[in-house]
Amino acid sequence: MDQEKVIVIDFGGQYNQLVARRVRECNVYCEIYSYRTDIEQIKAMNPKGIILTGGPNSCYEQDSPTYTEELFALGIPVLGLCYGAQLMNHVLGGKVEKAPVREYGKTEVMVDQTSPLFENVEATTICWMSHFDYISQPAPGFRITAHTADCPVAADEDPERKLYAIQFHPEVLHTVEGSKMLYNFVRNVCGCAGTWRMDSFVENAIKEVREKVGDGKVLLALSGGVDSSVLAALLAKAIGKQLTCVFVDHGLLRKNEGDEVEGVFGPKGSFDINFVRVNAQERYYAKLAGVTEPERKRKIIGEEFIRVFEEEAKKIGTVDFLAQGTIYPDVVESGLGGESAVIKSHHNVGGLPDYVDFKEIIEPLRNLFKDEVRKAGLELGLPDYLVYRQPFPGPGLGIRIIGEVTADKVRIVQDADWIYRSEVDKAAKEYREAHGEDPAWMPNQYFAALTNMRSVGVMGDERTYDYAVAVRAVRTVDFMTAEAAEIPFEVLQTVMSRIINEVRGVNRVFYDLTSKPPGTIEFE
Ligand code: XMP
Repeated sequence: MDQEKVIVIDFGGQYNQLVARRVRECNVYCEIYSYRTDIEQIKAMNPKGIILTGGPNSCYEQDSPTYTEELFALGIPVLGLCYGAQLMNHVLGGKVEKAPVREYGKTEVMVDQTSPLFENVEATTICWMSHFDYISQPAPGFRITAHTADCPVAADEDPERKLYAIQFHPEVLHTVEGSKMLYNFVRNVCGCAGTWRMDSFVENAIKEVREKVGDGKVLLALSGGVDSSVLAALLAKAIGKQLTCVFVDHGLLRKNEGDEVEGVFGPKGSFDINFVRVNAQERYYAKLAGVTEPERKRKIIGEEFIRVFEEEAKKIGTVDFLAQGTIYPDVVESGLGGESAVIKSHHNVGGLPDYVDFKEIIEPLRNLFKDEVRKAGLELGLPDYLVYRQPFPGPGLGIRIIGEVTADKVRIVQDADWIYRSEVDKAAKEYREAHGEDPAWMPNQYFAALTNMRSVGVMGDERTYDYAVAVRAVRTVDFMTAEAAEIPFEVLQTVMSRIINEVRGVNRVFYDLTSKPPGTIEFE
């Protein structure tokens, strides 16, 4: 695909992926590379622009990440952000040192509106600052284009050489006009036409899959999650019956979920593919009987998935391609793209390639961010409830039932979860209809779990000795940290009374207030 591209050079900042996402929101394709990437490689990519990210170091120290001066002489526009801004000035002969006043948080910035970066930006605008060093003297040839009360150089530039530096973070939403600044850079300074659109992505991806696959056979483990569903839809459009999707119902899915997945991808759905649903509930429950230790449960569920899939794959025989729903954050986080190498500890189908007889892996979504995967899903005609599905762990309800998993406990947690999610969705919908936006308490993930604790209650005139269900709702940006969402009390009360009345075996409902850390989002 001959796609105009901006590249982000990552110096270890926490917002590296955010920068790339914001650029893509300007309809410009963007990829992240480590600062260790060779200049020749960068030249070969022929980017329309280069953005240097923030980072935790001080650029004037010996071992800090840096980049050769050549980068600034390629004639390609460069935008430095925070550490990137300091580095640009430092490498080109300016001075960076410890700031007399450290700036952190939302800060008033006075900008020079004649700078191409600040076109249509208010003269005084709120920006997100987070730095302890500052540019005390711009590099020769640079002019100052923004300042704050404490920071004399909040931005500077040398438009002749197409070099721009910003001390604050335009990529975070707290910088009110940040998106406009990035738009000004990629569209006006770099001259990108803005051709990165999901409809053309889908069209191109279908074409590429067809070319690559030819008349070969493709196998996909479909979990019903967003990524694998979108991938299934894409492959279905591209190669139809050459695709076989194997969907393992491990009996630990949310209520009705198995049927929903079958409804969309099965014989009654709108795609003409081979769809295999394996009802492996009993097998899983048998393996899990008597097991209480969380890691052991996870392991059993993961291994059993591989066994079931392996059996199905054997029936199908050799395939040419195994399709995987890898997406861009997986690529960046596994250290192949950016700088911050975090290996995912729980990749759901991680072990699969070792057990399936195939020639090659295809990963058509590997360049997309999650929100782009969703947009592609809508383009492909998937229903909203699939596309906007909450994150759901591979081991499913197995890790939302504390202690031993049994069919009856699965029923309890499925029913309670269904009630809870419906009530939260209903309240959120009413709020949206009244106010035109999501309520401030809108959680990013919300679900019920079974505590495995039983206690005494009274129902009618009868003594009960039943389970306690916990409901949880968290607000989070990256799922690495989270806080409990303030679901309105009346919603929780309705949930409590419906769960106790409608779900047999439950006589108490707890609301989980724990943030992460110290808690995790899931219970096990
Ligand atoms: P924790 O419990 O670690 O969860 O705070 C963070 C996020 O990851 C999801 N999660 C998983 N996702 N396989 C997954 O694909 C797993 O084994 C798994 N465990 C947790 C969890 O739902 C939350 O969104």
